[in-house]
Amino acid sequence: MEKKIMRIGILGTLRGGSYVDIFQKLDGAKLTAVCDNSARSINNVKGILKEDVKIFTDFDEFIDSGLFDAVMLCNYFYEHVPFAVKAMERGIHVLSECTPALTMAECVQLCRTVEKTGCKYMLAENYPFFACNMEMKRRFDTGNFGRALFCEGEYNHPVTPHDKNMLSPGQFHWRNWLPRPYYLTHALAPILYITGNNLKAVNCKQVFAPDSIKGTACRVGDMVAIMLCEMDDGSLARVTGCAAWGGHGNWYRICAEKGNMENVRGSLDQIRVQYNSWNVPEGESEVSTHPARWYEEDSLNAMPGNAGHGGGDFWVAYHFTKYVNEDIEPFFNVYRSVAMSATAVLALRSSQNGGKEYKIPDFTKEEERVLWENDHDSPFPDTDGNTTMPCCSHPDYMPTEEDFANAEKEWREAGLIE
Ligand SMILES: NC(=O)c1ccc[n+]([C@@H]2O[C@H](COP(=O)([O-])OP(=O)(O)OC[C@H]3O[C@@H](n4cnc5c(N)ncnc54)[C@H](O)[C@@H]3O)[C@@H](O)[C@H]2O)c1
Repeated sequence: MEKKIMRIGILGTLRGGSYVDIFQKLDGAKLTAVCDNSARSINNVKGILKEDVKIFTDFDEFIDSGLFDAVMLCNYFYEHVPFAVKAMERGIHVLSECTPALTMAECVQLCRTVEKTGCKYMLAENYPFFACNMEMKRRFDTGNFGRALFCEGEYNHPVTPHDKNMLSPGQFHWRNWLPRPYYLTHALAPILYITGNNLKAVNCKQVFAPDSIKGTACRVGDMVAIMLCEMDDGSLARVTGCAAWGGHGNWYRICAEKGNMENVRGSLDQIRVQYNSWNVPEGESEVSTHPARWYEEDSLNAMPGNAGHGGGDFWVAYHFTKYVNEDIEPFFNVYRSVAMSATAVLALRSSQNGGKEYKIPDFTKEEERVLWENDHDSPFPDTDGNTTMPCCSHPDYMPTEEDFANAEKEWREAGLIE
């Protein structure tokens, strides 16, 4: 039988640049086209593209080129669904960067489009594929820990005001309007992946502390969102969105009936395991630390190489290619993916309503989807700068004139705006 090769195109070559080399080398995949309407972003990948990869600047020409069976969406955070829908309506499979959807209505639309077109959709969520998280999943799946009771996921990514401006060029850039809960997948997805649980409900409170974003045009004065998520097995998870307290890092912890596991703080390739003294499995110790491995097989462990985000970017490409070529369904299918978006949307509302609990719909059920199909409220601005819900827990928060002026000056000096 002839071996299947997935032809793929990438939209957006800033983040998308990290996937160029991976898809050019991955067995079963062939990068055939990239698209970006910014010359600066295209320059990011020019030096690494193979000669036969076609460069587009216009999305419509790109998507109608017939050059690929699947597209990776690395475009703006708030525009993934409209582009995913356009692709799937042309029979093109979709690998989408985070976040899957922006509004409750988009969550519904994405599920229906996947079902209507029969196209494959996967979220490019990479943090579950750190070695520590894959090691914890393998150990959790043995059953030695019993059922999960409480889990924690932290994604902490502070940046200086200058770096914030460099990442967010222009008053309307999405990073200037990004509510803390909306970037939750890096904290939450590893917990869902390790335990296999589904989301049921969320409460959220945020910490408003805008001093560290002085000199930026950021409209969000919150530094961390703390979300308490209830799972379908009755367990709870405490997750941050994208948090910004002092000290960069990721930390994941699974507390279960018979023991607990976590990555050793500051390390993505070491885990600490602890059992109750009366629940220690044969051949193991009550407390131990272990080097973490992606897979049991050495051949696969060699493959992530220098791939970004602790090898996680490699596994995203690997699982998506398997899905398209061999029909092996990935964990982050459309239903699990949009459940995380719905958690983000409802967590922001919770933080603006005294920490009220919101139920997460089961997006596999049309009767639950119908209830949300017209909920288009979004904290991101239209072209006039208007939003349909506030992006900050303090709805009236605004940067000062001096903050805006400093941001404009820095964007101009760096050549990021005219
Ligand atoms: N998973 C991760 O670890 C990770 C890391 C960084 C970024 N991301 C995600 O990647 C996405 C992109 O972020 P980014 O860091 O590249 O910054 P960005 O959003 O500023 O860049 C988007 C790029 O897409 C291009 N683009 C947007 N719309 C286009 C269109 N219609 N036609 C052609 N080009 C278009 C822009 O010119 C730009 O180069 C975001 O959704 C972000 O959340 C994920």
